Amino acid sequence: MNQPVPSKLTQSAAWKALQQHQAEIAPLQMRDLFAREPERAREFSLEAGALLLDYSKHRITGTTLALLADLARQADVEGWRARMFAGEHINASEDRAVLHVALRAEAQAFPAGNDVMPLVRAARQRMRAFSDALRGDRLLGHSGKPMRTVINIGIGGSDLGPRMLTQALWRHADAPQAVRFVANADPDDLAHALVHAEPETTLFIVASKTFTTGETLGNAKLARAWLTQGLGSETAVMKHFAAATANVKAAGEFGIAPELCFPLWDWVGGRYSVWSSVGLPLAIAIGMDRFEQLLAGARAMDAHFLAAPLAANMPVLLALLGIWYTNFFGAATHAVLPYAEALRELPAYLQQLEMESNGKCVDRDGQRVDYATAPVLWGSVGTNSQHAFHQLLHQGTQLIPCDFLVPGANTAAAAENALAQAAALMAGKDAAIAQKRFDGNRPSSTILFQTLDAHTMGQLLALYEHKVFVQGIIWNINSFDQWGVELGKEIARTLAAQPATGTAATGLDASTDALFARLRGWRR
Ligand code: F6P
Repeated sequence: MNQPVPSKLTQSAAWKALQQHQAEIAPLQMRDLFAREPERAREFSLEAGALLLDYSKHRITGTTLALLADLARQADVEGWRARMFAGEHINASEDRAVLHVALRAEAQAFPAGNDVMPLVRAARQRMRAFSDALRGDRLLGHSGKPMRTVINIGIGGSDLGPRMLTQALWRHADAPQAVRFVANADPDDLAHALVHAEPETTLFIVASKTFTTGETLGNAKLARAWLTQGLGSETAVMKHFAAATANVKAAGEFGIAPELCFPLWDWVGGRYSVWSSVGLPLAIAIGMDRFEQLLAGARAMDAHFLAAPLAANMPVLLALLGIWYTNFFGAATHAVLPYAEALRELPAYLQQLEMESNGKCVDRDGQRVDYATAPVLWGSVGTNSQHAFHQLLHQGTQLIPCDFLVPGANTAAAAENALAQAAALMAGKDAAIAQKRFDGNRPSSTILFQTLDAHTMGQLLALYEHKVFVQGIIWNINSFDQWGVELGKEIARTLAAQPATGTAATGLDASTDALFARLRGWRR
């Protein structure tokens, strides 16, 4: 691999100013800043729609923010933002537009010159008609019974979004169907989902933009066999399988009826696709009206992202704070801590969003970068997380910026714990015994919102999407491709194609040969 040469970014005036500023500010204690600045909490907080972001517990001053905003300006974040919303092919390595924002738009025509809204509106109407019929027990299976189980088969972006939101919004779910999700290549996943399902009353949705993903097709074939054996009919597939895909031809060849193929387009990245027909299982669970509220929430965040000045722009602020710690404090990870049981799948969703988007070491010009890009994103729900890994957050050797996500209305005990954790991380506590000392000065953002509903979730997810976008622009990487997942897929295909008997030489390496031989021995 070619060695990094000094990049324009690290040689830039804005970057160098931040490096110098970091050296000056690093010794400052946040608790002293709070003591000195009575207005700090008010000054470093921002409301956008339903979300209140408190970013006062960061190792920043007004100067830090001004210098970070210079970095965003230098990278032309505003210009790139305009290019994305104009439908330019900013996903250059795949020569594609990046238009997931169109999926939640309500403009008559968007973007100018390449209007995709007729497609989007038609897809929404079809989702509504289908989910209404299913929820109203008007969509019957092969033997005339209404559906009682919906199983989404997909992986990555075709799974994580609808799975997470169906969990997050379970209090708003009022469908007569149970909605389940299957992703893993391990057939145990499907087997578990089928435990309480009956072939007569089960609908499968095969969600795959490409309709070529090995795990999804493998599970879909197993599901089809389970269904056709259970019902004693091959044609039952036409009534018990739907698809969310950009590859209608392949879905048709699988046996899915054209009227049950819901569209996707190449200008929607998988991890940005929950707003599309990939959201169908969610629309079934909560109803299309609430699904439209989700879209409206995201649309409100899009409007904020487009209009707010950089220094008062929530996604931009989150992006810049992340860059501050990743690139100037050497933070290697970032924790997301939702204080709501309903948000327990959110860290996994954000992992794909952030790490598949910005886990890149080559910039848009093909040069190896000489700076860190996406940190490892991880996390879990509070308060469970407090009894698992917060020890390390408080007293470990690493600086780990945290996002506390706190719905206020129905989880009072959890919310108070979130505030307590953020306060403790920031202020620390002195003690005579070293082991009992808390250094503090550990940064966190707190995002507070009143209720956990579809509109708020739309805002929250769009907030993180745009954060990722801004970071990608500043890091000069393409956030919208994912070539890094291809090599492993290719090798897995090679291994799967090996004959069951004969030499275990895989053509790879001695370690893989030995492991493969052992596996084959066990299976014999
Ligand atoms: O392997 C990564 C990936 O391509 C993701 O980007 C995507 O969300 C997932 O696989 C599923 O892809 P598909 O929807 O085409 O099955």
